[in-house]
Amino acid sequence: MIAIGSDHGGYALKQEIMRHLSSRGLAYQDYGCYSEESCDYPVYGKAVAHAVADGTCEKGILICGTGIGISLAANKIHGIRCAVCSDCFSAEMSRRHNNANIIALGGRVVGPGLALMLVDLFLDTPFEGGRHQRRVSMIEE
Ligand code: RB5
Repeated sequence: MIAIGSDHGGYALKQEIMRHLSSRGLAYQDYGCYSEESCDYPVYGKAVAHAVADGTCEKGILICGTGIGISLAANKIHGIRCAVCSDCFSAEMSRRHNNANIIALGGRVVGPGLALMLVDLFLDTPFEGGRHQRRVSMIEE
């Protein structure tokens, strides 16, 4: 199960991403928001982060206007490694080296075509472990 959430700035892109997840046959849970009415991104960053941190969902996708605010909120939750990505290299490396468990996207930064590539890289790229596990463990400590 994938947790997904956004504020109003990410709402439109979230609809595209949810359609994409469905087309891939991937299950997701939408933690809001549920309209383009102005709202506060920390609410949704926290909800998705808790769903991932407590094991309800394996990974999360967060979207706000820039991806920044909602990632800052998510990274306050212990066990969360949320990476803001707007290029394919970073999305892939966030998994290979950082074992990111949430990707954050900017609905006002990336177009839908690139956003879906970033989501696929995040979902499909494995963690390399090894020396990277030591570093990720240091973050957890
Ligand atoms: C909302 O206008 C905007 O500030 C928010 O979506 C996000 O970009 C914050 O980081």
